Amino acid sequence: MSTPTEGWHGWDAYARFYDWENAQTVGRRDVRFWADLAARADGTVLELGCGTGRLSVPVARKARRFVGIDRSAAMLRKLRARLRRARLTGRASIVRGDIRVLPFRSDWRCRLAMAPYGMLQSLLTDDDLAATLDGVARVLAPGGILGVDLAPGLPRWGEYSRRVGLRGAMSGGRRVTLIESVRQVPRRGLTVFDQEFVETRRGRRKSHPVSIAFRTLSVPQMVARIEAADFAVDAVLGGYQDEAWSPDADVWVIIARRS
Ligand SMILES: C[S@@+](CC[C@H](N)C(=O)[O-])C[C@H]1O[C@@H](n2cnc3c(N)ncnc32)[C@H](O)[C@@H]1O
Repeated sequence: MSTPTEGWHGWDAYARFYDWENAQTVGRRDVRFWADLAARADGTVLELGCGTGRLSVPVARKARRFVGIDRSAAMLRKLRARLRRARLTGRASIVRGDIRVLPFRSDWRCRLAMAPYGMLQSLLTDDDLAATLDGVARVLAPGGILGVDLAPGLPRWGEYSRRVGLRGAMSGGRRVTLIESVRQVPRRGLTVFDQEFVETRRGRRKSHPVSIAFRTLSVPQMVARIEAADFAVDAVLGGYQDEAWSPDADVWVIIARRS
């Protein structure tokens, strides 16, 4: 498969399987962390790359007001249905847009901007990261919080080809098998996941290929980029329960404050 040229490529095709896969991987382990940050924010919460709303619904329940932005219409369709089911449409809104050019009025402000689940790793160049962080700095009220988490060590993953990752049932009597390959593209600092979701229903088999690329900076590099956008970094954690950070931690969490 060819390497995606943009970090937002692939997510439309992934949307159909995203919740099924992530219920079995990340599950709910980050939910309380983000919901607690939202409860403390005391104002509008902006989720960058809100996707299908895995976190948006619990976060919107705690936030005074919630706005989620994502570029993928297919991911947002699922979020919209979720917000309706949770009766949260009154205080939660969804914006389809690109986080590199936040489409908000010049006087619009939020108190917390969250980029969970490796979201900033979907920005494949330094220019994209700088544009996003500058935009977030513009919409955060002074003293407002930027929360970021990163999936560590992706560049250290060994490459593999067509490994059966997950197998199971989805709604509507569908059976799904995920066959996954991982490629490193060191020249561009990217890790590419080539996934094939094979869906079977009533004896019919359909293949859904999905390719997604991520760029992983080290924590010192990411901290430097965040500080360059006029934030002061308050904390760097190695987990969702205040664990100390180390390069080998399961997750890297950065909390920064708008100067
Ligand atoms: C890892 S998912 C996270 C979804 C959700 N926050 C969660 O925790 O489950 C990343 C999301 O970022 C979106 N995305 C990637 N690049 C984007 C961009 N440049 N602008 C807006 N959304 C983007 C994708 O469509 C996808 O929904």
